[in-house]
Amino acid sequence: MPRLSIKSLHLQKNKKKISCLTAYTSSIAKIIDQYVDIVLIGDSLGTAIYGMKNTQSVTLEMMKMHGKAVYDSSNKAFTIVDMPYGTYATKHKALKNAHELLRYTKCQSVKLETDKKTIEIVKYLVKNNIKVVSHIGVNPQKYKNFDTIRSVGKNIKEQEDLYSLAKKLEEAGSCLMILECIKSDLAKKITNILSIPTIGIGASINCDGQVLVINDLLCTDALLKKPRFIKAYAKLNIIIKNAVKKYCEEVINKKFPLKKNSY
Ligand code: KIV
Repeated sequence: MPRLSIKSLHLQKNKKKISCLTAYTSSIAKIIDQYVDIVLIGDSLGTAIYGMKNTQSVTLEMMKMHGKAVYDSSNKAFTIVDMPYGTYATKHKALKNAHELLRYTKCQSVKLETDKKTIEIVKYLVKNNIKVVSHIGVNPQKYKNFDTIRSVGKNIKEQEDLYSLAKKLEEAGSCLMILECIKSDLAKKITNILSIPTIGIGASINCDGQVLVINDLLCTDALLKKPRFIKAYAKLNIIIKNAVKKYCEEVINKKFPLKKNSY
């Protein structure tokens, strides 16, 4: 089966909801590729797998390595790779880094955390034939402390600003738009006004699709304070803990390895 194209994702708008998950490794990519429409190699890998406190220390090199691993281990889903903090500060820097990232990983598009100042950068990348996914609402790269993140769109000014930003980013040529932690009514208005699909995280059912961080979906970490948009579909932290505990007990009690595990 050929890889999903941006054209086919656009055709899904108003017809079939779009599913997206993050992946950072080859083993997860192989599993989720069978089901999701989009795989996002998110810079959330900084917190999800490198144990960083925020995403500001994620490097282009990290995105290249994980992006390539995920792309090479998938063959159906549309692929988006995040441009990390500081790599798209000017349009020339953005183009050089986007080329390097896409050339190395082979991913189909890059994602930028976008605000008013980034519109010209999106335009410039699109003019240079790069598919750009914009990310509005909460931009995690702006936060050193994720505990201070709050949803946006609570007052009229915030709502008008985001609504107009979304329209300008579509005009700039964005191919998809991630809406993060945006009030339900505003997410609906933005989704209705745009002709490109919106993918929400903490932005209600009103978006054209949904994205979650794979570690949150699997509950690999028992977070003390979980944002309410997270839903854990499995409890891998408990499964891993029990497996490791059993293994250690068997090693101590000489129950592993058995003859059948030996040469
Ligand atoms: O980095 C990431 O995983 C993301 C998603 C949360 C949308 O940007």
